[in-house]
Amino acid sequence: MPDIQRVGVCGIGLMGSGIAQVSAMAGFNVTVLEADRTDPPMPASAILEKGLAAIKKSLDKFVEKGTLQADDRDATMARLKPATNIADLRNCDLVIEAIIEHMPAKKELFKKLDGLLPPHAIICSNTSSLCVIEMAAATKRPKQVAGLHFFNPVPLMKLVEVVKTIVTSQETIDALFWFAQKVGKKPILAQDTPGFIVNRLLVPYLLYAIRMYESGLASKEDIDEGMKLGCGHPMGPLTLLDFVGLDTTYYIAEIMFDEFKDPLMAPPPLLKRMVLAGHYGRKSGKGFYDYS
Ligand code: 3HC
Repeated sequence: MPDIQRVGVCGIGLMGSGIAQVSAMAGFNVTVLEADRTDPPMPASAILEKGLAAIKKSLDKFVEKGTLQADDRDATMARLKPATNIADLRNCDLVIEAIIEHMPAKKELFKKLDGLLPPHAIICSNTSSLCVIEMAAATKRPKQVAGLHFFNPVPLMKLVEVVKTIVTSQETIDALFWFAQKVGKKPILAQDTPGFIVNRLLVPYLLYAIRMYESGLASKEDIDEGMKLGCGHPMGPLTLLDFVGLDTTYYIAEIMFDEFKDPLMAPPPLLKRMVLAGHYGRKSGKGFYDYS
């Protein structure tokens, strides 16, 4: 059994809070690290408070549904330790990074973690599209670096992609498969190429749905109904785009297009313009649909 008891999560945004939640629900002691943000300005303590409130809300939903006991919810919350100083992660056996999708920021974090963590510790990134080997190369333990890609909403989605770089050791992969199963997920093995397995298929599909709408082939409602009722998807592609975030999808598409030069991965003009207008989807109140 891998030596993983104390887990660190960097970033308590949408993905980080979900990862911290499922880890704590599985019985791990979890330290969640945040930093002050500048755009828009927000102190780390306020971000942590917001993230912990989101976790509590999600746990409350499980209690309401009867799938979690109130005592377990309280015990889960007690296993979550907020931190604003990276030194608080020093005893972690596994650290999962879920900060902004910005390579220089990730490399700086990986370097700091490498200097701080015990020699056996594993460092993972929840990146959806960036090169994991580039982060691994910022450390002196590249064999113990991998991707661990969760899906939104983390408490509900059953999949985790375990991403093996060209140097990740088999021991690290085995430990991460064990961890993913412990937090109630089904792990699958992916290679370190943009989009891994799921986004490599999902993103071109979502982009094609935008092209169909943009060219007037069908209404957005009909595109969504078509895929929901015709293929049994829980959400149609334009609703899913609003859910994932148009800015996030645009960013992933740009990275995938840059790597593969496949026209199916090129962001359509409408996506770019919606992102420029700040229409990011649910999080901004407007995307293909209105959430105001
Ligand atoms: N925690 C706990 N419970 C939650 C929750 C959360 N965070 N979010 C929703 N729920 C509960 C709701 O309370 C509801 O409970 P109920 O059945 O008792 O009423 C139940 O889950 C269903 O939620 P909703 O009624 O709001 O809506 P849906 O039935 O549509 O389910 C969904 C929501 C699970 C998100 C479903 O629509 C779905 O599976 N959508 C597709 C999501 C998807 O494809 N995600 C992957 C995105 S790609 C990605 O993440 C990769 C990245 O790199 C881009």
